[in-house]
Amino acid sequence: MPCGNRFMIMHSISKLKLEDLNLAYNIEQASQAFPWTEDIFNSNQGKNYFNLKLSDNFQIVGFAISQLILDEATLLNIAIHPKYRRCNFGRHLLQTLIQQLRLRGVVTLWLEVRVSNVAAIALYDNIGFNQVTLRRNYYHRNNTSEDAIVMALSLS
Ligand SMILES: CC(C)(COP(=O)(O)OP(=O)(O)OC[C@H]1O[C@@H](n2cnc3c(N)ncnc32)[C@H](O)[C@@H]1OP(=O)(O)O)[C@@H](O)C(=O)NCCC(=O)NCCS
Repeated sequence: MPCGNRFMIMHSISKLKLEDLNLAYNIEQASQAFPWTEDIFNSNQGKNYFNLKLSDNFQIVGFAISQLILDEATLLNIAIHPKYRRCNFGRHLLQTLIQQLRLRGVVTLWLEVRVSNVAAIALYDNIGFNQVTLRRNYYHRNNTSEDAIVMALSLS
């Protein structure tokens, strides 16, 4: 989908609410090589989480899920529907999440990402995350494993 001027005029970012979860989970399934189960997706909501949705023309096309513990937060998940990628939506959603976490007193945002996830790593590099460490064989599925890169961004 050519982005055209969609980025400028047609999208909005707001809190992900319980009534959004079905549509957001559809995006999770369409987006991830290894999607969460719906139960896990629905359990990552509530008072210890700060979650946002990005809507284009009033339709949810992306979400970000973060967990807050004291003055640290972890980005647990972020996805933009495949049809809406490379329109700057992922960058804007993550930048908005970072601004909101900063206002809530978060000083460090952490995340883990598969080493094969070139798009996400490029997005995180682009935003300014630093690579902190590598967790060997962190992800397991069907007798295969993959390393995780741990990244952090200082918000202070
Ligand atoms: C990662 C993801 C959220 C990026 O969303 P997006 O809206 O397409 O990203 P943006 O258009 O905002 O891109 C911002 C920057 O990220 C980088 N980037 C994004 N997609 C990229 C790709 N496919 N290849 C290389 N770099 C990429 C670029 O630096 C880009 O800046 P540029 O367009 O000026 O070059 C999206 O690809 C996605 O949903 N992936 C599947 C889910 C996932 O892997 N989530 C992360 C792990 S939980």
